[in-house]
Amino acid sequence: MVMNQPTDNQAVALCRLDDIPDPGSKGLIVQGRQLFAVRQGQQVFVYANRCPHRGIPLEWVPDQFLDSSGRLIQCASHGALFLPESGECVAGPCSGASLTPIVCRIADDQIWLA
Ligand code: FES
Repeated sequence: MVMNQPTDNQAVALCRLDDIPDPGSKGLIVQGRQLFAVRQGQQVFVYANRCPHRGIPLEWVPDQFLDSSGRLIQCASHGALFLPESGECVAGPCSGASLTPIVCRIADDQIWLA
């Protein structure tokens, strides 16, 4: 899903909170950049869709960025696992590296890129 209509000079809407399953994830294309959002309850974490191991997108199946537990971000290529809240890799070939965080906020049930 692509939602990148500016609503003012500084904020860009990514998607609605309810567009992401809980727990779950969603791929986004914003201003030509591949991003993804991970939802854990009322918290959402957004990262660039680029694995620090090989610099490629994490998912093989659209919108699926989590492992089977729904608690960790998983790269489909070589199985690296990342903490949703920090993006830190905790297992796999890029252990200790991190995903690139994207600053966003939730307002009016919408996720906004700052
Ligand atoms: S490309 Fe992600 S773990 Fe290798």
